[in-house]
Amino acid sequence: MSLATPSRVIPLRPVGAAPRAPRPVLKGRQPDAAARAAVRDALTPLAAGGLRRDALIEYLHALNDREGALREGHLVALAAELGVPVVEVFEVASFYHHFDVVRDDATVPRLTVRVCDGLSCAMAGAADLLARLPALLDADVRVVAAPCIGRCETAPAALVGQRPVVHARPETVAAAARGDTGPPPAHPDLVDFDAYRAAGGYALVRELADGVRDPAAVLAAMESSALRGLGGAGFPAGRKWRIVSGQPGPRLMVVNIDEGEPGTFKDRHVLERDPHRMLEGMLVAARVVGIDAIYLYLRDEYPDVRRTLSEALDALRAAPPAPLPRIELRRGAGAYICGEESALIESVEGRRGEPRLRPPYIAERGLFGRPTLAHNAETLVWVRDIVTRGDEAFAAHGRHGRRGLRRFSVSGRVREPGVKLAPAGITLRELIDEHCGGMADGHTLYAYLPGGASGGILPARLADLPLDFDTLQPHGCFIGSAAIVVLSQHDRARDAALNTLRFFAHESCGQCTPCRVGTAKAAALMAQPVWDADTLRDLGAVMADASICGLGQAAPNPILGVLTHFAHEVGAGGDQP
Ligand SMILES: Cc1cc2nc3c(=O)[nH]c(=O)nc-3n(C[C@H](O)[C@H](O)[C@H](O)COP(=O)(O)O)c2cc1C
Ligand code: SF4
Repeated sequence: MSLATPSRVIPLRPVGAAPRAPRPVLKGRQPDAAARAAVRDALTPLAAGGLRRDALIEYLHALNDREGALREGHLVALAAELGVPVVEVFEVASFYHHFDVVRDDATVPRLTVRVCDGLSCAMAGAADLLARLPALLDADVRVVAAPCIGRCETAPAALVGQRPVVHARPETVAAAARGDTGPPPAHPDLVDFDAYRAAGGYALVRELADGVRDPAAVLAAMESSALRGLGGAGFPAGRKWRIVSGQPGPRLMVVNIDEGEPGTFKDRHVLERDPHRMLEGMLVAARVVGIDAIYLYLRDEYPDVRRTLSEALDALRAAPPAPLPRIELRRGAGAYICGEESALIESVEGRRGEPRLRPPYIAERGLFGRPTLAHNAETLVWVRDIVTRGDEAFAAHGRHGRRGLRRFSVSGRVREPGVKLAPAGITLRELIDEHCGGMADGHTLYAYLPGGASGGILPARLADLPLDFDTLQPHGCFIGSAAIVVLSQHDRARDAALNTLRFFAHESCGQCTPCRVGTAKAAALMAQPVWDADTLRDLGAVMADASICGLGQAAPNPILGVLTHFAHEVGAGGDQP
């Protein structure tokens, strides 16, 4: 099946029943007693130590889960309970895609089905699924097209309520909508707390607490390792620990489990199976850097991981290997931009996820104005092995002159998509042949995205480049979170690029004009049969130069990839790659 053509690319707005209610009118409204009672009731389980302004998004989730939407009267009452202006609550609620603000008397859907229309799912037939589903579902079930839900290896995928449906077909989604829609049970391969401890887990944390192991030696081991941040930016992990530990306390930490980059699913893969390895890495970092409180920020699209992590944290708290810092698990609300670390921090503070201008860097002034250590979940997964096993665990690996191991999320036209643990520097061709069982039947390699939506697009003739940080920049690409999407002769690079630009336009926080206007304008131009290459290049230059954060700065990468390597597809001249 070929990738959706531009005219068939599916909308990012609800396609099923229940169109959005008219914008609520909140101005000047006073809370009524019934709404206040309902809000207090919904918030009781969360309000043990009193209500907190920074937990606003958790409160909005509590109301949204209970009602299926956010009713305007409840927002007014929530503002009163928190003692903040109504507009403050409304502007946060209206920012996040998983919250629907409706009038008090609106009829809300019983259930929401989110059909992923990210690139890998679009390639696997998401448009067809979206077109056929509404007819099979009850009128009170809403279908929405959703940005990548992080299950690309089993595309097409959908979330029925909180239950993922993989390799989704209209019939299987409809059956799920009639059945249990809560999070699925734990992964069968889960290493639980007892099993993790029995295999030597948390010994490192205990040794640090008991003074058997020197924090300075752990920091030195991290600095000499080849470990770089695996969330995308690739900053050396040990160096970051050194910088933050040199800042005045109290210091805070955020763990980034937003995993929103289309094509990326490695964090989910690890956390479903081995959550304590990440938690141990987190606690080691906290001890070495001197962290007072930790916030884990988990995307809302991973309800199963939320359950697994909550249970893992409960087990850890019940039998801590050493005194623990304060740890909070926070729930995202469907905004890709909240993976950007300063936007994530805004979100943890209970605000709209709008990235901050730098400097100051978050290592100096981050969460609640304090020096903050931010790490991707997988970066922390490596800590235990690097400290206890040294080079053999990590840096001894690598190919084509590169050092380290990486978890590649591979999806698209390969026989065995999935998370592949492979040497840094492996080439795409080697990755497909050695780890993915070759190309899928009937498909030959045509193009690939080496770093999800942001990392650009390369042709098959460049399939022998080492995949690692810094190796792809000369080709206008980067590896980012190592999300590899493989395209074949049945796909078009222009469709992939259009899919990513529509994603960026949808997910732009709107704070700066080059990104807000540029992504939408570029997507419109790219939907034309012949691309206006000059205008697209100009737009790309402005976005790259003048956007505040990495979303707007990287958004031109897929456009430039097409213009450079696939010009024949867009009527801009050039030979077949
Ligand atoms: C638009 C955008 C989205 C991002 N999304 C994520 C994400 O989902 N997960 C993540 O770990 N890092 C993400 N990052 C990178 C973070 O800003 C940050 O560099 C990272 O969490 C730091 O951790 P690390 O050093 O362990 O990689 C994103 C960056 C940008 C610009
Ligand atoms: S570049 Fe885009 S996402 Fe980033 S701050 Fe500007 S508008 Fe927001």
